[in-house]
Amino acid sequence: MRDNSRIIRPAGRPFNGEITVPGDKSISHRAVMFGAIAKGTTRIRNFLMGADCLSTIDCFRRLGVQIDVEAAPGQVTVHGRGLRGLKGQQEPAASIVLDTGNSGTTTRLVSGILAGQDFPSLLSGDASLNTRPMKRIMEPLSQMGARIRSVKGNGCAPLAIEPGQLHGIQYTTKVASAQVKSSILLAGLYADSSTSVTEPALSRNHTELMLKGFGADVSSIIKEDGTATASIAPCRELYAQDIIVPGDISSAAYFIAAALLVPGSSLLIKNVGINPTRAGFLSVCRSMGGDITILSERQAGGEPSADLLVKHSSLHGITIEGSLIPTLIDELPMAAVLAAFADGTTVIRDAAELKVKESDRIATVTANLRAMGCDVTPTDDGMIIRGGSPLHGAVLDSYLDHRIAMSFAVAGLAADGETRIRNANCVDISFPGFYDYFN
Ligand code: S3P
Repeated sequence: MRDNSRIIRPAGRPFNGEITVPGDKSISHRAVMFGAIAKGTTRIRNFLMGADCLSTIDCFRRLGVQIDVEAAPGQVTVHGRGLRGLKGQQEPAASIVLDTGNSGTTTRLVSGILAGQDFPSLLSGDASLNTRPMKRIMEPLSQMGARIRSVKGNGCAPLAIEPGQLHGIQYTTKVASAQVKSSILLAGLYADSSTSVTEPALSRNHTELMLKGFGADVSSIIKEDGTATASIAPCRELYAQDIIVPGDISSAAYFIAAALLVPGSSLLIKNVGINPTRAGFLSVCRSMGGDITILSERQAGGEPSADLLVKHSSLHGITIEGSLIPTLIDELPMAAVLAAFADGTTVIRDAAELKVKESDRIATVTANLRAMGCDVTPTDDGMIIRGGSPLHGAVLDSYLDHRIAMSFAVAGLAADGETRIRNANCVDISFPGFYDYFN
C-alpha cells in the first residue's frame, strides 16, 4: 500500500512573504448548488477544487446539470436548470443515487433541495459520512412534509427521499448549525408558505447572503439574547449569478497559526474571506496575543474579504466559549494546538459539536496533543489545555480528518524533533496541495 504518511520537521526559518489560500469551501458548495437550481448560467471564479466540492459537482451532474470545470484557474460554469428542472432516474419509481463522499455540507444541503423534487433519490457517502448525525435535518424536513428516512434506521445516511408536498415551518434548532439551517431554507424554496429557522447563535450565513443574490426573498434578524432567525419565502425561480469565491479563512488558519508560532515570521495572506460569522479564529488569536492586522477590506457578493498580515507573537491562554464557537467551529483544532504552545490555561467549552465532525475532534485533538507531551483534559463540550511546556515530535494520526492533519502539521513545525502524520492525504478534502504550500 502507498505510504500515506507525512513527516513534518521543525521550521528551520521564519514564514515570510505573501501567499493566497484556495477558495472558501462553504461558498464553493453553495455557488454550485444554487447555480444548478437557478435559471441561466452561473460563473464561479476561485472555486475550491477540493474533494468535498467535487462531490457536490458530481451530484448535480447526475441530476442532469451541465457543469464545466476548468481546474487550473478554478473556474466553474454551471448551466442552471431552474428551480424545478433537476432530473431523476429515467425508469419510473427508481431512485437517483448520489454519492456525497466525505461531505456533510453536500449531504445536508442537497437533502433540503431533493425534498422538494418530484422524483425519488438516495444519498450516501463514505464510511465516515455515513456515521454522522442526519436526524438534525430529517426531523425539520419531515415536519415540512418531506418523506425522508434513514435507510438503516440509525439516523444516518444512506438517506432515501421520496417526493412530498412541502409546507413552511417555524423551526428552532438546538445547535447553531449552518448545514441544518441551510437544508431547511433550501426546502423552504419549494414550500407553499414561509419558513423560518431560529438558532441559539448565528452560524455562518453564506446561504442567506448568496440566496439573496440569486433573487430569493430571505431575511435575517438577531435578537439581543443572541438567537438568530433566518426566514425564506416560497420561490418561483432563482436567477444565475457570477460569483467570486474569497480565500477560505479555514485554510488560512493553518498559515496564520504557523506565522504566529514560528519566530521571526511576518506573513501576508491575501484575499481571505472575513465574514464575521466565520472570523472567530482571528478574534481568538488576537485575544491570545497574536499580532494580526486586517488590510484592504473589501466586499464581493455581500461577502467581506481582506489581506491578513500575521507576525510571530508570544501567546497566552484564554477561554473560548458561547456564541463565538460557531464562528470558528472548524478552526478549534488549530486553536487547541495554538493553546498548547501558549502560556497558561486555555478552556474550550460549548463546543460539543466537535464530536460529530469528520472525526470526534475532542478525542482526536486530545490524543494527538497528548502524544506530543501536552497536558490536556477532554470535557463533554470541549477541552482544557495547559500550555506553555515544549511539545515533542510524535507519530500521530489524522483519523482521516483533514483539519486534524493540517492542524498537527503546524504543531509539528513548532515542536522539537520529527512528527509523522499517518493518513495525511485527507487534506485533499478542503486543501489540495496543502503540503506543497507548506514546503
Ligand atoms: C458548514 C457548516 C459547519 C462546518 C462545515 C461547513 C457549511 O457545519 O463545520 O465544515 O458549509 O454550512 P455545521 O453546520 O454542522 O456546524
